Amino acid sequence: MVIRSLGHACFTASDGQHTVIFDPFLTGNPEAVVKPEEVQVDAVLLSHGHSDHLGDAIPVARRLGVPIVAPYELAMYCQRHGAEVVGLHIGGGTDLPFGRVKLTFATHGSAVVGDDLIEYTGPPCGFLVTMSGRTIYYAGDTGLFGDMRLIGETASIHVAILPIGDHFTMGIDDAVRAAGFLRPRAVVPTHYSAFEPIRKNPHEFAHRVESLGIRCEVLAPGEEAEF
Ligand code: NI
Ligand code: MN
Repeated sequence: MVIRSLGHACFTASDGQHTVIFDPFLTGNPEAVVKPEEVQVDAVLLSHGHSDHLGDAIPVARRLGVPIVAPYELAMYCQRHGAEVVGLHIGGGTDLPFGRVKLTFATHGSAVVGDDLIEYTGPPCGFLVTMSGRTIYYAGDTGLFGDMRLIGETASIHVAILPIGDHFTMGIDDAVRAAGFLRPRAVVPTHYSAFEPIRKNPHEFAHRVESLGIRCEVLAPGEEAEF
């Protein structure tokens, strides 16, 4: 399983046969390493409606004719804008051609914030994605919550992608605790550098997670690692 950072909270996961993309915010992303027209994926996994996640999800899904997998209300928003969707809800999962996707709890907001309208798009989510026997936990934007223990007990996680940027999500202290709750084989930090209020040193996080005996891969935009 190869995880590649495309900048901010956008990642691809590929097993060599299929590729999925998480939260494809590329246009306007100061860290983006690809253009939305260059994305080639089998599905778009969308955790919530904030602009630094929704990003290019709809145009990418429409161009490729692939579904957006998202919490139901957000899926309906995307469908209304012309995308094929798979609307799920927290705790539910489904088998798709590339593997299994389950939506997990995340404690955050989820609205599409326009100039004169805030359109609420249900709760945000995280994702457990299993492809070719490897399980990824993409936490989404979230604060720390105790049921990360339950997620770690229920799923054998090969790699957890965890926000560390503070301000809108867990900061480093809480993300280290999250890694302890989840006990993944590896972690990748996210959501820590694209914007001023969330600038953090991912290597501080890496040192602390590695002291728990968990591998940590800090992926600069464009970098990838195998898990
Ligand atoms: Ni957000
Ligand atoms: Mn965000």
